[in-house]
Amino acid sequence: TNIILLGPPGAGKGTQARKLVEERGMVQLSTGDMLREARTSGTDMGKRVAEVMDRGQLVTDEIVIGLIREKLETVKAPGFIFDGFPRTLRQADALGELLAAEGQQLDAVIELRVDDQVLVDRVSGRYTCGDCGEVYHDKTRPTKVEGVCDVCGSHNLKRRADDNAESLKTRLMEYYKKTSPLVGYYYHAHKLHVVDGLAEIDEVSAAINKALETPL
Ligand code: AP5
Ligand code: ZN
Repeated sequence: TNIILLGPPGAGKGTQARKLVEERGMVQLSTGDMLREARTSGTDMGKRVAEVMDRGQLVTDEIVIGLIREKLETVKAPGFIFDGFPRTLRQADALGELLAAEGQQLDAVIELRVDDQVLVDRVSGRYTCGDCGEVYHDKTRPTKVEGVCDVCGSHNLKRRADDNAESLKTRLMEYYKKTSPLVGYYYHAHKLHVVDGLAEIDEVSAAINKALETPL
């Protein structure tokens, strides 16, 4: 199965993707993570990407489609979870073509529906493990021992440069302008499942698993 997790910044895409990896052995393809990796490379491309991301704007379709193409051509998996991709209609078309070229198809799109008001809290409280990528939150999901990752024991817990109120405003605008049309796009393709992203993490996870078993 290949699925897309769709939703605004802070909706819980990364959190739920990691659960699906754990439960189903699927492979998470997060363009945000790939871009954050690219920016640490120090190349000119990396520097340009860093500026755009920190402002909260989308990087170009060419860059992200290229990243996904490379993964689909090289990684073998029982299924992919697309987290933060596609984000434009052009990316959505490209994904369809890339999957078809590999003899695969898209099975479901999960829209995590949330209220904008919770997103400020979600992103401003977020921190992640720099070593294994586990996602935490100051209030809703703190580490068991302060400063230590539950999963891998690392002390390398980090906050993201774009998790401030100013960038979040731009990220939300970008979402509504460029990404939210994908809701209609996948609804018409009979792939869309809407899940309440305001529920607790485990409840959202249960709802996603149920949706994946529900034929449209
Ligand atoms: P990206 O890394 O994709 O960030 P995003 O879409 O803004 O999404 P987030 O990672 O902020 O949120 P999430 O939905 O994963 O939430 P999380 O699970 O962490 O993109 C970053 C940037 O890269 C973009 O702005 C753009 O510049 C660029 N980019 C990436 N992909 C691109 C593309 N395809 N095209 C162009 N540009 C691209 O949860 C958030 C917090 O809430 C956490 O602290 C978590 O613990 C907590 N939480 C999660 N679920 C719950 C719950 N149910 N209840 C309570 N708390 C919860
Ligand atoms: Zn860790």
